[in-house]
Amino acid sequence: MASLPFSILIFGGTGAIGKHITSAILSAQASPGHSISIFTSDATASNPEKEALLSSWKSQGLRVVTGDLNNAQDVSRAYEGVDVVVSCLGRNTLTAQTELIRLAEESRSVNWFFPSEYGTDIEYDASSKDEKPHQNKLKVREFIRSNIRRVQCTYLVTGPYLDMYLTLLPSVAAIGGYDVRSKKAMVINSGNDAVGFTSMPDVGKLLVAALRNPEEAKGKVLKVQSFVTTPLDIVREFEKQTGAEWTTDYTSIQALRELEQQLWDEGKPLATAATLRRIWAEGRTLYQKTDNEKLGLAADDMETLSEVVGRAII
Ligand SMILES: NC(=O)c1ccc[n+]([C@@H]2O[C@H](COP(=O)([O-])OP(=O)(O)OC[C@H]3O[C@@H](n4cnc5c(N)ncnc54)[C@H](OP(=O)(O)O)[C@@H]3O)[C@@H](O)[C@H]2O)c1
Repeated sequence: MASLPFSILIFGGTGAIGKHITSAILSAQASPGHSISIFTSDATASNPEKEALLSSWKSQGLRVVTGDLNNAQDVSRAYEGVDVVVSCLGRNTLTAQTELIRLAEESRSVNWFFPSEYGTDIEYDASSKDEKPHQNKLKVREFIRSNIRRVQCTYLVTGPYLDMYLTLLPSVAAIGGYDVRSKKAMVINSGNDAVGFTSMPDVGKLLVAALRNPEEAKGKVLKVQSFVTTPLDIVREFEKQTGAEWTTDYTSIQALRELEQQLWDEGKPLATAATLRRIWAEGRTLYQKTDNEKLGLAADDMETLSEVVGRAII
């Protein structure tokens, strides 16, 4: 497949989803005369745990730019000659993106920006604007609507990552999940409510597909996913692959709501996960049609439930 005709700069490229996005962009390669870079802190660049990853990426041609993302000079310098910025910043730095986007608008070269989304649809319906975990992403979208004219932005809305959904946290079991070691699952309601998921490697694939289809992607909110399944179908897949019967417990949406409220009242970080799991269980990941096809991706281009569960049981 043709290489990417852009110079691309990635923020948060070594983060949880950034790793998959950076790997996919590097595999797609930039065409001659273009570059792929990540902007990262000195601390990350010299972190021994990230050394192997960074050196393998460097051997694939990645440029590593270090600096402080809150320093306008560092960022403007990094933008020189860059066409596309892909932000994969984590939840605690989402609002820093308004300045990054303002500097992109000011730059002479950046013309396409992907703000860090890669998750729940923050404008799914009228209830979405009141959900606490959506507030910072909504602020970023509002800033872009009101202030950004030249740079085009693309929001890649992927829904939950199945890879992360498969975890069961004992302290908050009522939010649902799967524990491979004890072969136990906790599902919401009957376990038969469909949820649209994207696997983490597919987020990278979908981002590259957006880069390959600028006419479909620029200026758009893209709703994409790997597949739709149910919590009980996931249990059955685990049973098939582990060759054992699992114990499944059920929790009501009401119990989930009560736990969610308690976690917010106590200021616990897991409140975000509880709210998001409730939104997903209530069906706000489902669409008549996704934008996968517009990006040239068919169902069999995406990972399957079996592949993602297979990775979880290793
Ligand atoms: N759909 C889902 O199920 C799901 C799950 C998790 C996350 N997400 C979304 O994915 C996006 C990325 O989240 P993530 O969990 O991948 O992020 P993350 O791993 O927490 O952080 C990503 C990167 O952000 C940078 N960063 C984080 N804190 C920073 C700080 N205080 N100052 C400067 N830089 C900082 C770091 O970059 P450097 O190391 O390069 O400095 C870090 O590697 C978010 O929009 C999040 O909402 C979705």
